[in-house]
Amino acid sequence: MKLKRRVAVFASGGGSNLGAILDHLDALGPAAPAAVALVVSNREGAGALARASARGIPAVVIADPSSAPHLLTLLEHHAIDLVVLAGYLRLIPREVVERYEGRVVNVHPALLPKHGGPGMYGARVHRAVLAAGDRESGATVHFVDAEFDRGKIIATARVPVEKTDTPESLAARILVAEHFLYPRTLHLLVASDSHLPAAEYFANPPSGVTIDAPRPPLSL
Ligand code: GRF
Repeated sequence: MKLKRRVAVFASGGGSNLGAILDHLDALGPAAPAAVALVVSNREGAGALARASARGIPAVVIADPSSAPHLLTLLEHHAIDLVVLAGYLRLIPREVVERYEGRVVNVHPALLPKHGGPGMYGARVHRAVLAAGDRESGATVHFVDAEFDRGKIIATARVPVEKTDTPESLAARILVAEHFLYPRTLHLLVASDSHLPAAEYFANPPSGVTIDAPRPPLSL
């Protein structure tokens, strides 16, 4: 029996993706292949910290998000196997990305490589999609390298862009897709039975959401 993988979730905001990940792991019960062992934020008062504390999960505010030694000490102290960025608005220092090569992932609320990169987060992303006249948008889960939103794509969830969309209505539609995509992609990444067809992890997506499941082998 493989040991449970220990996950650190980094979030700067409300943490709805953290919540979706926690709910998914809870639903898997004692056999869940991973557990969120640490939540990290660069912002005091981030909702994600409160979600962690409410579940008895260590919640830490990092004073200097650009300090690799500080981050590495924290991750080692908590014996972290996988770093999950979920609405984390700071760059992970290069030394950390290198030490955790292939074990840092992020979710971006657009179909990368379009509409990504420095400063592309929140409503700015959706405004860019609407301004470009894209008929489709969605969420992308990707490995993190030392640049924003640049690493190898793992999985995507596509949603239609409606003519009447505002940045807010598009963001809300994509968030539903994220909450389905991210926990299941993480599950596949850490699953000991990753020989299962990837599609099995993404069965029954929400209506209007199309999943581009990852191609194995992917497990860490
Ligand atoms: C999500 O839109 C995600 O795509 C982006 O930041 C937002 C995080 O929201 N990276 P939440 O804090 O998980 O609610």
